[in-house]
Amino acid sequence: MYDLILKNGKVVFPDGVKVVDVCVKDGKIEKIMPSVKDLTKDVIDCSGFYVLPGIIDAHVHMRTPGLTMKEDFGTGSRACAAGGVTTFIDMPNTRPPTLNNDDLDEKRGFASDDSIVNFGFYIGANGKNFNDIKRVKNIAGVKIYFGAHYKDISIEDAEALEELFKWGKMPIIIHAESEKGSYEAVKQVLHIAKKYDARVHIAHVSTGSEIEEIEKFKSEKVTCETAPHYLFLNKNAFQDLGNFAKVNPSLQAHEDQEALFGAIDDGVIDMIATDHAPHLKEEKEKSFEEAPVGVPGVETSLPLMLDMVNKGRIDIVKLVKLMCENPARIFGIKNKGKIVEGFDADLVIVDMDEKRVIRNENLFTKCGWSPFNEWELQGVPKITIVNGVKVFENGKIIAGDFRGGEVKFLQ
Ligand code: DOR
Ligand code: ZN
Repeated sequence: MYDLILKNGKVVFPDGVKVVDVCVKDGKIEKIMPSVKDLTKDVIDCSGFYVLPGIIDAHVHMRTPGLTMKEDFGTGSRACAAGGVTTFIDMPNTRPPTLNNDDLDEKRGFASDDSIVNFGFYIGANGKNFNDIKRVKNIAGVKIYFGAHYKDISIEDAEALEELFKWGKMPIIIHAESEKGSYEAVKQVLHIAKKYDARVHIAHVSTGSEIEEIEKFKSEKVTCETAPHYLFLNKNAFQDLGNFAKVNPSLQAHEDQEALFGAIDDGVIDMIATDHAPHLKEEKEKSFEEAPVGVPGVETSLPLMLDMVNKGRIDIVKLVKLMCENPARIFGIKNKGKIVEGFDADLVIVDMDEKRVIRNENLFTKCGWSPFNEWELQGVPKITIVNGVKVFENGKIIAGDFRGGEVKFLQ
């Protein structure tokens, strides 16, 4: 007997969509086959629905510790579950910043207590914690803010950056933005990475000129992501949203949006990650200079992309590559990102026909707003399953005492 059967769904595999049953036992996908006959009580009739691997969001800022008025692992993970995200990887720009093993262990404790989805972490670099970086275990990579934007957690000179690339033991994730703008910084980083044949992942690509530069260096070792707000919004969004459209890097031109969609088609962009960066409404309502940068994203990324599938702009198999398979492959996350026997039962059941209007008041993120408020989107995550447990169903969190776990990185 299985613990749970997802019956008759259109299951999205790496090579196409098939109508089959997915049988879950002990948190794993135990069996995939047509028309299973079994006494399992918990059977979800997925007829007419799609079944996707749970979304892996490799770029989020959950704000614990130190900034929990904006978000915490409890609220942030509920927002994930509502958006079909079953694993997130958390960034180090908390207070204190995550710069050594003790900082990581503290975060591990908080996330284990509060998160209803699975989680992993990056370590930050400040040019002085190289020995700590060498010692840490089981992390996605080193996040580097290259340029002077984020004090206490950025590397300003190319020499310190070179030292890390030369060491080369883990993926380096770069927020590349210098005073000269993101294009020049990306160029500089790509040259250093090439020199040492290092693995580098460029975060939140937002412009056509960055794409052109990345294309020249593209390889298994050079990967990149963009975020939904760069695909769906451009700088005109400031007219309606004001500071609620203030993000880093900033929103670009309509032509850049086109270039990003083109780069998805061409395989230059490997993944979509949200850069979920919640800030409170009252902070965003300050003057332009004072308002913090960032927008929330984990709850809206899958619905936005499903709407694109419905509009014929991207196909569902490609979407699963960008949001599940590639994040798992690039960061070496064990047993996730695909619907395969033996993999973890992280799944999301999606109704591609239902339309829903995003509304601030329905969101689970603590910040309580989205730049996509009032957008009507076709394609809705109905049920989210983490490690074989239903955590979200029809608009409600049903996780109870269940908690997600730390993922394993195979690097
Ligand atoms: O818009 C952003 N907000 N970009 C970042 O890189 C950081 C983030 C934040 O932490 O608020
Ligand atoms: Zn970020």
